[in-house]
Amino acid sequence: MRNQDNALTESGIDLDALRRISAAWPRRATIRSHMESLAEPPDPHDPAVPDYPEKFLPFAEHPDFLAASSDQRQLVLTYAWLLYNARVITAEEQIANPTFAMIVHGVFPGSERIEIKQAVQQAHVDETWHTYMHMMAMHRSREVRGITSEPALPHAVTYRELVSEQEETGDRRQRDLLSLAWTTVTEVSVNAYLELLSRDETIQPMHSLVPRLHARDETAHGSVMAEVVRELYANMSRSERETFARALPRAVRAFGMHDFAAWPGILRHAGIAKATDIVEDCRRAIGNNLLVRDFSAVERMVREMDIDPELVMAGG
Ligand SMILES: [Fe+2]
Ligand SMILES: [Fe+2]
Repeated sequence: MRNQDNALTESGIDLDALRRISAAWPRRATIRSHMESLAEPPDPHDPAVPDYPEKFLPFAEHPDFLAASSDQRQLVLTYAWLLYNARVITAEEQIANPTFAMIVHGVFPGSERIEIKQAVQQAHVDETWHTYMHMMAMHRSREVRGITSEPALPHAVTYRELVSEQEETGDRRQRDLLSLAWTTVTEVSVNAYLELLSRDETIQPMHSLVPRLHARDETAHGSVMAEVVRELYANMSRSERETFARALPRAVRAFGMHDFAAWPGILRHAGIAKATDIVEDCRRAIGNNLLVRDFSAVERMVREMDIDPELVMAGG
């Protein structure tokens, strides 16, 4: 049945799956289904409920952090929530959307089919809405918490790592392939990041609702990206495949890392002493442990695509 209507391309991508996802978009997209409910004012704000789960702070158990006042620690959780959102927005605006635009504009051979362009353009629209959801969630938190000044945050670590890889090559194609690898990992793994909060009942209800709604769209995006990248990969030269495959493990690491560059400023801004020492102690203790650890979707994609595992290993 699948081959009817040319449902599988030569590279094996499932056009019917893309068609189904695109056909469901008008019903599924949270920009359609939840715009009004998110526009309503949230439930009365209970200031005692934290903005972010303390357990995800890399220094949650550090004695100098535990010695801070409860107001200072609550403020750190508010800044942590803002940091969490800023990282999502950077992933959408700086990583995914520029790549989606490149795919739709034909920068990578293999993206000519309307099934690919339609599904990717839908994802691009979704991402812009996600940025809006997270931006408004940040705005509401600032309002209800009376936040008037914030620490200056660096660009999110996932994006900093991409830029630093791209700066090592003067070749435009290589830079685009790095963006494609980072976007692929982001799109098939973002739900692991969203799920850090999406089922948490200890934080402000809005702070789990926004990631939960966002994750609904990303389930579709992950499927789209896995199919699309299979077609693009099939159309790459050998050296382009090497660049892409070697970038995957680096993108995985960048996506999952704790952002240690952001925390000293946050702790200092909350008035906590020994901020740099606290963060350095944790960096040493945590080593290469990641904030996001579920990369099963990337592993599955590598297995299902015709990617040489040795190339992937060579990049790690
Ligand atoms: Fe998104
Ligand atoms: Fe997405």
